[in-house]
Amino acid sequence: MLIRVLSTHPALAFRMATPLSHSPLLKSPSYLFLRHHSFAPPSLSCFSSFRSFSSPLSCPFSSLSSDRSSKKWMQPIAALLEIGGVKIARDDVVKESDPANNVPDTIFSKLGTELHRRDNHPIGILKNAIYDYFDTNISAKFVKFDDLCPIVSVKENFDDVLVPADHISRSYNDTYYVDAQTVLRCHTSAHQAELLRKGHTQFLVTGDVYRRDSIDSTHYPVFHQMEGVRVFSPDDWAGSGMDATSFAAMDLKKSLEGLAKHLFGTVDMRWVDTYFPFTNPSFELEIYFQEKWMEVLGCGVTEQEILRRSGRTDGVAWAFGLGLERLAMVLFDIPDIRLFWSTDQRFTSQFSEGKLGIKFKPFSKYPPCYKDMSFWISDSFTENNLCEVVRGIAGDLVEEVQLIDNFTNKKGMTSHCYRIAYRSMERSLTDEEINQLQWRVREAAQSKLNVVLR
Ligand code: PHE
Repeated sequence: MLIRVLSTHPALAFRMATPLSHSPLLKSPSYLFLRHHSFAPPSLSCFSSFRSFSSPLSCPFSSLSSDRSSKKWMQPIAALLEIGGVKIARDDVVKESDPANNVPDTIFSKLGTELHRRDNHPIGILKNAIYDYFDTNISAKFVKFDDLCPIVSVKENFDDVLVPADHISRSYNDTYYVDAQTVLRCHTSAHQAELLRKGHTQFLVTGDVYRRDSIDSTHYPVFHQMEGVRVFSPDDWAGSGMDATSFAAMDLKKSLEGLAKHLFGTVDMRWVDTYFPFTNPSFELEIYFQEKWMEVLGCGVTEQEILRRSGRTDGVAWAFGLGLERLAMVLFDIPDIRLFWSTDQRFTSQFSEGKLGIKFKPFSKYPPCYKDMSFWISDSFTENNLCEVVRGIAGDLVEEVQLIDNFTNKKGMTSHCYRIAYRSMERSLTDEEINQLQWRVREAAQSKLNVVLR
């Protein structure tokens, strides 16, 4: 058995201080981590960045909320959903008249799908495998939550976990706001504080999380996370000869190394120091997979302030958050994140309850079709807004939106050229269909993003 745990590589200690735009691999100001898979560049959680933004309201997006005029491609949208006992109507989430709302129909249509609660789906199979690990290898009993409503307050999503008021993750460019006080959770950490307040000391929370982002084979605006929290009381560390924080950090690392081994077998692993507002110290676990270091989770010793506010002044706790898609893409050999949402039998029939080792066999490969689009940008232009427009029109037919050229002329005008890859996972697309999509994308980009096509 070989488990080699390396301590932080000195070069990586600078990672969080390095401006992300300096990374040649990062093609957009995307700085998330728990969703990329092994082929993505080293990346950071939206919470592990110190970048701040001016104010959510400085990024007007109301005209972007969705491409409401072009719903042809969409699946029918259920009028009323019930999630964890909460009834939700479309109008509760997609509010055309509220300038603080940026939830498009494409996102509303995903609410209530709960892939993580399907025992035959890769995301559900993985969730259950992690449950098994905690049930059989950790003596403490973890309480499991997997149907907490993803619509949470700004306070729960950010304030309760000490995310600074000017943190970039709060911006409208990154988070889906239902209204000025309510968001679609962007991480399962949104439930930490409440569960601690309710007196839970060991728990796992699995759920769908939502982030505005770029488009490629490893990014999708809805994905799934699992959060774990464990609280210790002074008796737990008294005999250890360690201080409370070192004891919690040691237990955390041991538990998560065990989990990685349970899922991946014998692998090389290393711990990397990082920053999260809610933990200190904070770490990322990376495993060596297919000749690359892949970040699999973020974690750390819970900030004492969070425990104090929950009424636990004498305890110490650890917390972790992991992205299920990223792990499932590796474990099941799933090449494109859109496949998780496929209802095609040729995808769904390949997986069954309890079977973690199955490798996905692509049922067909349809060729991608590329379309380029150049325009002069305005100051308010962001790639996330462009991606939202493209997804609003092309839905899951868009595979990637990539910046391929970027220059500023003598007059100070900046031009971007984006290459859009259209490809269906399930069928061939006709030229006519793609040309039509591209025309609608061009029109929408011009009218909604304040750009001038070239
Ligand atoms: N919430 C963090 C994220 O989504 C992950 C995390 C959870 C990190 C708990 C530390 C502790 O990036």
